Amino acid sequence: MKLAVYPGSFDPITRGHIDILEKTSKIFDKIIIAVVHNINKKALFTLEERVELIKESISHLDNVEVESFSGLLVDYIREKKACAIIRGLRTVSDFEYEATMAYMNKNLLPDVDTIFVMSRPEYIFISSSGVKEAAILGGDVSAMVPLPVEKKLKEKLKQ
Ligand code: PNS
Repeated sequence: MKLAVYPGSFDPITRGHIDILEKTSKIFDKIIIAVVHNINKKALFTLEERVELIKESISHLDNVEVESFSGLLVDYIREKKACAIIRGLRTVSDFEYEATMAYMNKNLLPDVDTIFVMSRPEYIFISSSGVKEAAILGGDVSAMVPLPVEKKLKEKLKQ
């Protein structure tokens, strides 16, 4: 079985992430979305909230599951016996960050490669951090995130 892991902060999941999942779920037998606490980023949503929002947003994808983990990504990949890491690419500015991570992971776990998938052009501008900033400042993000995320953002920002 070809199992791939799609790791990320997903704070929160966006339509861009879902586009990547819709494409890759046709290529792999199974995908596990691995929600990670990124020590370099301050999160708006807890890990549990992010997992729940993803579950609600991907119910149309039968072969995609969600989990969270802490620690080194390659240890998780090894434990799951996954054959690939999935990452989305939007613009050239993503490349440096992504290439460094991919080479680091390749060095730590030579048998597994990172597969990059290009976003649909209409989603290129969407990022979780942009969505959060726009929502906090009162912008309409309904075209950028799935409905459960839009609702949760409104709820969270009321608090
Ligand atoms: O969505 P993000 O924040 O760009 O995802 C980055 C993430 C979480 C995939 C990356 O930070 C990661 O893999 N973290 C786990 C810790 C790890 O393995 N670090 C070494 C690889 S760079």
